[in-house]
Parts: sequence; C-alpha cells; structure tokens
Amino acid sequence: VETAPLRWEEGALLVLDQRRLPAREEWLRCTTVEQVAEAIRTMAVRGAPAIGLAAAYGMALGARDPERSAELLAATRPTAANLRWALNRARDALRAPVTTGGQDEEDPDPAEILLSHARRLHEQQLEGEHRLAALGAERLEPGDRVLTHCNTGALATGAYGTAGAVLSTAWERGRLGSVWVDETRPLLQGARLTAWELGRLGIPYRLVADASAGALMARGLVDRVLVGADRIAANGDVANKIGTYPLAVLADRHGIPFLVVAPVSTIDPAAPDGTSIPIEERDPGELLGSAAPGTADALNLAFDVTPAELVTAVVTEAGVLEPPYGETIARAVAGRA
Ligand code: MRU
Repeated sequence: VETAPLRWEEGALLVLDQRRLPAREEWLRCTTVEQVAEAIRTMAVRGAPAIGLAAAYGMALGARDPERSAELLAATRPTAANLRWALNRARDALRAPVTTGGQDEEDPDPAEILLSHARRLHEQQLEGEHRLAALGAERLEPGDRVLTHCNTGALATGAYGTAGAVLSTAWERGRLGSVWVDETRPLLQGARLTAWELGRLGIPYRLVADASAGALMARGLVDRVLVGADRIAANGDVANKIGTYPLAVLADRHGIPFLVVAPVSTIDPAAPDGTSIPIEERDPGELLGSAAPGTADALNLAFDVTPAELVTAVVTEAGVLEPPYGETIARAVAGRA
C-alpha cells in the first residue's frame, strides 16, 4: 500500500488532500485524531472505504481515549457505512485478548494494537478490491462505454477502488472501451478526481454534465452504468452520491444494466431499507457559489437512495449479488461475520 493516497508513515497518517486536486498534489500529515476527524469532515479524504480506513488509523492516533476518539470520528460524516464499521472493528480489536506467547508480558499498548489493526484492514481492503475488480470486469464486454458517477477509484478507498477498480481491471484486460465521467455537482468529484485518475491510468474518458445522462442513453452511447455505494441496506437499496438515483431510473428506462460496486463493509444489515439510511445535508454554501443571488437559500443533499429494484447487481469481494437481495445480501454479510 506504499503508493496509496492514504498511508501511515513515521507515526502519522498521510492523506493526499483531495480538496486541492487536480491543481495541486499536497499531502496532509495528521498526527492527532482531531486532525484526522477534520480531514474527513472537510473532505480532504473522502469516499466511503477511504473514510473508514482513515478512521481506523485515526483510532491509533487517539488510542489514549478510544471511546472519545471513536465518537469524534463517527460524528464527521453520517452516511458512509464503512466509517462505523471500521470504528466497531477497532473497538473489537482492543477487546480481543492478545496472545504473545511469552509470560509476564506488559499490557499491550493500545496504540500498537490499533495501528496493526488499521494496517490489517488496509491490506484486507486492497485484496478485497482486487477481487471485486476482477469479478466486476467479467460483467463488462470489450468496447463497453461505461457511465460513472462521483469518484470511486483509489482516492475513494485508499487502496484500489470500487467501480473505479473495475474500470482499471477491465481496461487492462481489454474489456472496456471508454468512460463517460459525470461532473458530479456540486463538489465535482467526477470532473476533478475521476478525470485525474483515469487520465493517469491512460483510460479514455470524456467528461459530461450530470444532466447529460438521458441524452447519452437516448443516443445509444451508454452500455452500462457503474457506481459505488456509501451504504447498502439489507433489502438492497443503495445510498450513493446525489445524482445516482436519476441515473438508475434512466438506465431502467433504456434497458441498460446498472451495477453497484462495493465491499461487503458498505452493507449495513441494521438498515432494513433505504429509509433508515441517514442522508448527509451539507453546507448550502457549497451549492450557492457565485452564481446564485446573495439572498438564495439552498438544500444541499449529499446522497440519494436508489431502490433495489433498479439495481441489476451488486459486485462485492464476496461475489456478485443479484436479486432477491434480501437473501443474497444476508448470505454475504453472514460470510463476513
Ligand atoms: O461525498 P463523497 O465524495 O465522500 O461521496 C463518495 C461517493 O459517493 C462514492 O461514490 C462512494 O463513496 C462509493 S465509492 C468508494
């Protein structure tokens, strides 16, 4: 994980500051849990699995008071399931008995336990993402023109990616023609981050306004839609970046497969359906910019929910899940436990 956009180095968590991309490649050096929480809240690091990993490393930095650190990190962003999942795993790691073999050992250092836990999570995530990428690439056909939304590459996971990893692997294996990249307003994760990543990977892409999807599909220019997820409910409803749901409706209308790519840690079995997924509302200022009149108010929903019936399949590291999601998701989650 040496070249990952999120890594541990000499007692600090380094994160590639995604607010500055693509103009500048600046790294933030977080040495306290407060700094990690701030990096997540301000979206210097973003994307559901990347947020979870950053939080896991953040726990190592805040090992002196794990309960407070977990609370601080959990309060940063509400929608990504991976955040709470990673924090729960860190708590489990602290509770697990450590067997070092020797006698008269000193009490194990919580910071060390939490750091090795975060590193293990990072490695497992990288492996899992390579698996889901290979499974997802099988679902593509050579020459496919894939429409994608938001950013789902290495930046969004700290490792290889979700939907973005499928695109990378499919490209390497000759199973991808080109990519339509949604701008993804208002923070432009598509225009700024996905375009930057695809460019570096040499994958052909064209940027389109979010509102172009219908026109592209009506012209027969989209073969598949591939997106990530921030939280998947037990019934298969998918919360993802605002603008995902309209893509699913359009794909359905045009008979285009709509694939969701996510690790099993994005599934929240405690959420029976999409209505129980908390949807983040961000500062209206992100939307208002300089174009709206100074008196304008705005509602800045960061995510929407796509009903399971519009999802063709969910590609995970544990296999490609298909309807009936109630059953296939329960099996995938049971396998994780
Ligand atoms: O608000 P963001 O940029 O953190 O939202 C990210 C997304 O919606 C991604 O599509 C999602 O995390 C899944 S891909 C890792």
